[in-house]
Amino acid sequence: MATEMTFSIIKPNAVKKNTIGDIIATFEQNGLKIAAAKLTVLSRKKCEEFYAEHKERPFFGELVDFMTSGPVMLMALSGEGAVMKNREIMGATDPKKAAPGTIRAKHGDSVGENAVHGSDSPASAERELALFFDKSEFVNR
Ligand code: RTP
Ligand code: MG
Repeated sequence: MATEMTFSIIKPNAVKKNTIGDIIATFEQNGLKIAAAKLTVLSRKKCEEFYAEHKERPFFGELVDFMTSGPVMLMALSGEGAVMKNREIMGATDPKKAAPGTIRAKHGDSVGENAVHGSDSPASAERELALFFDKSEFVNR
């Protein structure tokens, strides 16, 4: 499998609980490396663009309110099969259904406040990374 990059967000509930370090440790223990990172607060405009595919869903407003409610950690994660590996490490969208030991099982508070985002395919990863990072910001590792 080739080395690839995926896009990760540590969501506001996890940042608020001071679990950035534990989440990054989990990535590193599973062979994922940070290739770019920034701690920021998302604007509504950027967040709506990021979640455009969910615009018609009933939870869209709530999702944008939550994701803009406080600091988030944006990261490019690099590794062998990084997209699918990150999805496994995160666990199911609903923390109650996430496998024990996964990030969402440990740090998720609800289906909305589920601690992390991870791209769902290499194509999504490319789109999402380009929304938040310039190519020159990626460190090759
Ligand atoms: P993500 O995109 O954040 O990695 O999560 P995902 O693929 O597992 O879930 P997705 O279906 O793409 O949904 C995106 C985010 O929307 C929130 N959500 N809320 N209230 C609800 O029923 C509901 N359903 C989804 C979650 O925060 C989910 O991560
Ligand atoms: Mg998704």
